[in-house]
Amino acid sequence: MQLRDWKYEDILKISELETECFPQEPWSFRMLAASFDSDAFHGVLSEDGGEITGYGGITVAADTADIENIAVSEPYRRSGAGTKILRELIRIAKDNGAKKIFLEVRVSNVAAMKMYLKNGFKGAYARTRYYSDGEDCLVMEKQL
Ligand SMILES: CC(C)(COP(=O)(O)OP(=O)(O)OC[C@H]1O[C@@H](n2cnc3c(N)ncnc32)[C@H](O)[C@@H]1OP(=O)(O)O)[C@@H](O)C(=O)NCCC(=O)NCCS
Repeated sequence: MQLRDWKYEDILKISELETECFPQEPWSFRMLAASFDSDAFHGVLSEDGGEITGYGGITVAADTADIENIAVSEPYRRSGAGTKILRELIRIAKDNGAKKIFLEVRVSNVAAMKMYLKNGFKGAYARTRYYSDGEDCLVMEKQL
């Protein structure tokens, strides 16, 4: 498994994975492409034998970074890919001058929360009925 930066031609496959991994509210191709076009955005992906198996994106503005998305295709989960992508996003945040990183996670998403807790994120506050299906969101924060 290798990590590399997103290229524009990866976005179609990333948008397919986004639909697979976030069936409730996936980002569209257009939203992913708009993020990719922003100077503040950095995208990394994992590859296995030339196949994209996971991806993540972070926006860094001044001293604050926001993890926009992180996901691994189901057959490739529990092998450390999510952690590798997350650690690379943390490195990018640090290298670009961020002092803290925020992310949003559904309160039911135990798998993701465990991964974030293991990597130094802490619960900051909740947003009630944040998602369109009424689920609450936990905002997590990591000081760098
Ligand atoms: C969250 C996600 C990215 C994790 O990717 P992954 O490659 O499986 O993660 P890792 O293998 O690096 O796992 C890291 C740790 O997270 C926790 N974890 C991951 N999946 C878990 C699961 N299904 N149940 C419980 N804990 C889990 C474990 O503590 C794990 O460490 P361990 O394997 O040593 O026990 C993946 O489950 C995913 O893509 N989910 C759907 C999209 C999503 O919810 N993204 C996050 C949005 S905020």
